[in-house]
Amino acid sequence: MLVHEPVGERYRRLVLASGTITSTAQAGQFLMITVPPHAGDRILLPRPMAIHRRRPATGATPGTIELIYGVVGRGTRALAAVPVGARLQVTGPLGRGFDYPVGTRSALLIGRGVGICGVMGAAEDAAALGIRATMVLSGQRPDQVLGRADCAELGVRTIEVTDDDGSSDLATLAAMLRAEFDGAAPERTAPDVIMVCGAGVLARLAAELGAHWGVPVQASLEAHMACGLGYCHGCAAPVRTDPSIEGPLVCADGPVFDANIPVV
Ligand SMILES: Cc1cc2nc3c(=O)[nH]c(=O)nc-3n(C[C@H](O)[C@H](O)[C@H](O)COP(=O)(O)OP(=O)(O)OC[C@H]3O[C@@H](n4cnc5c(N)ncnc54)[C@H](O)[C@@H]3O)c2cc1C
Ligand code: FES
Repeated sequence: MLVHEPVGERYRRLVLASGTITSTAQAGQFLMITVPPHAGDRILLPRPMAIHRRRPATGATPGTIELIYGVVGRGTRALAAVPVGARLQVTGPLGRGFDYPVGTRSALLIGRGVGICGVMGAAEDAAALGIRATMVLSGQRPDQVLGRADCAELGVRTIEVTDDDGSSDLATLAAMLRAEFDGAAPERTAPDVIMVCGAGVLARLAAELGAHWGVPVQASLEAHMACGLGYCHGCAAPVRTDPSIEGPLVCADGPVFDANIPVV
């Protein structure tokens, strides 16, 4: 572990050296992190975390991956106590990630809270592929909005919305995005694809916008996970499917799904 530091009051940033994961992870994939015991508390199950950034090796500097997490319970509390220099056992990269359809020229990316980390890899890919990306960064308060510096570094245009000023309200955001992309100038025409991570309601908003513009939508969904590998079947996707067959698993069939599957 190379860096482990607070990000604002709510989150922590973790940088790990791992050339293999850096060079093989796709945007939107995740890791299962085994958290070492802390203060006599043994955390049995690994915890899923999105790969926020992949930085390839340069010269003598090793390839790194970056995660950002919120401390919400036992596992993340114990993770927060792991010191810089310690070795962490991680499994991954796992799951199905975001994938730009052939010919994509522009993309709308939408993230909320730590969900911004789930979609940041798509911003990295957009920068590498020359795709014009706009990213909605949503959070409760301005000081809790993640990803500003990353988007600036990647040259991705941002639209910030918060609960504080009401701009993250779904109807307000939908109207803002329609006004933004229903224009005539090339940078204001509809995006070729929408990618979203952060909350089920945002996936539904993205699906509505995708239907309005007639473009594909990819949504990263969350579920509690025990194995992350498709074994335990504990992470059924929150989607409506034929009740006579087992529905998709978030860890193995997702976390990124085509949003033609209705989110419940
Ligand atoms: C694919 C994937 C990627 C993720 N990426 C990130 C990330 O980049 N950053 C980050 O901070 N978190 C991320 N999460 C959520 C993270 O895994 C949980 O916050 C973490 O496992 C909580 O562990 P804990 O032991 O601290 O909390 P617990 O004690 O297990 O739970 C504390 C509280 O958090 C809720 N919770 C726990 N896990 C989840 C979950 N998966 N979804 C919704 N609520 C949950 C519980 O219901 C409870 O209310 C991701 C989850 C998934 C499935
Ligand atoms: S977490 Fe075990 S099957 Fe998905």
